[in-house]
Amino acid sequence: MNEIAVLGNGRVGGNLAAALTRAGHQVTVADRTQGAAADAARTAGIVINATPGAGSLERLAALRRELRGKILVDVSNATTDGPDGLPADLLYPGSSLAERLQEALPETRVVKTLNTMLFPVMTAPATLTQAPDVFLSGDDPHAKQTVRDLLTDLGWRKEWITDLGGIRTARATEAAILFVPHVIRSGGFAPFAISIAR
Ligand SMILES: NC(=O)c1ccc[n+]([C@@H]2O[C@H](COP(=O)([O-])OP(=O)(O)OC[C@H]3O[C@@H](n4cnc5c(N)ncnc54)[C@H](OP(=O)(O)O)[C@@H]3O)[C@@H](O)[C@H]2O)c1
Repeated sequence: MNEIAVLGNGRVGGNLAAALTRAGHQVTVADRTQGAAADAARTAGIVINATPGAGSLERLAALRRELRGKILVDVSNATTDGPDGLPADLLYPGSSLAERLQEALPETRVVKTLNTMLFPVMTAPATLTQAPDVFLSGDDPHAKQTVRDLLTDLGWRKEWITDLGGIRTARATEAAILFVPHVIRSGGFAPFAISIAR
């Protein structure tokens, strides 16, 4: 059992919080109420960022003290949006939000994962007709092992989890967001995950 703080109570945050609670973890969800994120992060060992990517760097850098020594699981995508509200471009081309977070929070172990799929897949990967992939990026092997265990709790089989390497590899998975608006326009909001066919 882990103490987990989920920042953001939207589609992703709410879904992850419910599934992790069902799996037996002690989960606190923080909405945008002043001080809620700091309170939740202070008592948790693992903090999940499920807030909009565009403001995440500023928001999480402000929690530097609360996040010291913790694992920060970043599932967000930092994009600028098009007129239709769908992601249009990367906010950090030539880098990634995860790298920027790791730079801003040197005493926190950042792990990027789950950002390459629509939110229902995060907690129900076995419902897709083909086996999906989920990727891990992060500099700390122990932190990645902890996140791997959480993924297992969410229904991810060992062979569906690919450790890409250090936090720099997050720029690959974050760039995969560029597929998303086109996949949605052609296929609607049917759940999908960006995956590697083997
Ligand atoms: N939706 C997906 O399928 C999907 C898939 C992969 C990754 N992601 C990423 O996951 C993140 C969340 O996406 P989502 O679809 O769950 O978005 P969402 O439904 O709009 O939820 C975002 C949540 O963050 C909250 N929030 C906004 N500003 C905040 C702040 N300053 N402090 C604390 N909470 C704040 C929102 O609160 P209010 O309701 O009060 O605005 C809302 O509860 C995004 O970075 C997105 O790119 C989404």
